[in-house]
Amino acid sequence: MQTIQWWKEAVAYQIYPRSFQDSDGDGIGDLPGIISRLDYLKKLGIGLIWICPIYQSPQDDNGYDISDYQAIQKEFGTLADFDRLLNEAHQRGIKVIIDLVINHTSDEHPWFIESRSSKTSAKRDWYIWREGKSGAEPNNWESIFSGSAWERDSATNDFYLHLFSKKQPDLNWENSRMREAIYKMICWWLDRGIDGFRIDAISHIKKQDGFPDLPNPEKKRYVPSFPMHMNVPGIQKYIEELCAETFRKYDVVTVGEANGVSSADALDWVGEKAKKFSMLFQFEHIGLWNRDSQQKINLTQLKDVFSRWQNAMENGGWNALYIENHDIVRAVSKWGDEGRYWRESATALGAMYFLMKGTPFIYQGQEIGMTNSSFHSLEDFQDVSAKNWIREQRELGKSDSELLRELCLTSRDNARTPMQWSADQNAGFSRGKPWLAVNRNYPQINVEEQWKNPDSILNFYRNMIQIRASNVGWIEGKFQLELREHPDIFAYSRKFSGWTGLVICNLSTNTVKVSEKFPAEQLVLSNYGMRDLHPAEFKPFEARIYQTTVS
Ligand code: GLC
Repeated sequence: MQTIQWWKEAVAYQIYPRSFQDSDGDGIGDLPGIISRLDYLKKLGIGLIWICPIYQSPQDDNGYDISDYQAIQKEFGTLADFDRLLNEAHQRGIKVIIDLVINHTSDEHPWFIESRSSKTSAKRDWYIWREGKSGAEPNNWESIFSGSAWERDSATNDFYLHLFSKKQPDLNWENSRMREAIYKMICWWLDRGIDGFRIDAISHIKKQDGFPDLPNPEKKRYVPSFPMHMNVPGIQKYIEELCAETFRKYDVVTVGEANGVSSADALDWVGEKAKKFSMLFQFEHIGLWNRDSQQKINLTQLKDVFSRWQNAMENGGWNALYIENHDIVRAVSKWGDEGRYWRESATALGAMYFLMKGTPFIYQGQEIGMTNSSFHSLEDFQDVSAKNWIREQRELGKSDSELLRELCLTSRDNARTPMQWSADQNAGFSRGKPWLAVNRNYPQINVEEQWKNPDSILNFYRNMIQIRASNVGWIEGKFQLELREHPDIFAYSRKFSGWTGLVICNLSTNTVKVSEKFPAEQLVLSNYGMRDLHPAEFKPFEARIYQTTVS
């Protein structure tokens, strides 16, 4: 039998280093802090960690604005700390991938400093410069972080493109010298022994030729410009070259952040034929998390999206499975219930995605059901995208109380509050003042407490990890959506050579009935105690995992 690639068997864990564990009391998490928590991750059953950016950076977008790709941000530690982390992780059988941010750099990167210095600079064309149109921006594209996607630069009076913050100028992927410098940097890290990358914003690297204005019937100042820089035709030429010059030469895992890539296009990006990335973070289910969307889960759409991706990947691809990360609000707050059914809904949402076919990613704190935070004033928000949005919306006349209400529900800072390790001061995250306030619920929601409690969310995750590892069917088995029409239940089976795994989750506060019978008789995990399938009544947010009895 063919051996399964290690990254298909692994369960992955995402670390947001600023907020994971501080070791020196400056209120910012760091690499020695991560090292001190490796034993925890090992005991949880993690086989792969993804660490968000730790490179030298002015921290305008918490490290996604890199000013030196080959140096570590001083608050996080040193290269020697990084090597030690890699070594300590490997000793425990944990692989390490880091974030690779190559759609843009910081405006403080020496490449950009040189590029902006004059129109004739050797690196001018490493970024995207255009002249203004009658004194205004070159076109009407809006930045993902609000406002125009163009910034005028006083040195030459030209504008540069920034899809994210104005301190994150976009690299020009049409320039081969720039691409070669990026490949060299990537190989420098791979030669250091890392196990791969999560590749940031990679679906944005190709921009629509000619940078045309977008239709603007409502006469807005700037227009959402996603279609002009997400998965734009022609991008695969760059992805192919990137992979050929770097990753393909090593035995590593790559996870592309692929906003705008549909399941129909996915096999151009991943899979045995394409030989490009190992897997993708697709955005379609996250799209259902929109700023304006109402709180309640749209189960029909959710079933649709997940099964579409599962089916698409059945033809030689592989899914990266997730419901949380540092860019979205906490799942239990958005789709579950922070109150009475907090434990049940956090575990039901976990079971809903975790045992589909693919590599599951857990975002720090998700495994203990961390919730959105409480923000009391607009000054509490640290995220650059929130700050820009506040500025823009104030100009449009929105009141501060309206903005506060919306940001409490949507801000990325909700997911970035410090990890809640214990009921000690600052949740055991830092002995100094944390850079972002700890969620006030840490005395109730923390790792130490949940580790001791067999019915905790944390132990539910630990059990799921063990179950997934206990039978190859959970790794390789074909996914099938069950009970498609059921309004409250999310259910699926996994089938592998006569073996069946089955997950049934009630994602509502209703008590519901399931009358169908399934060929998987052994209940292996439940969040309501180990009850029989019959009578098949599911309590609010009840989740059960079954499999064929293995003798
Ligand atoms: C990705 C990151 C996000 C960052 C953006 C710009 O979407 O996940 O945190 O702000 O890219 O680099």
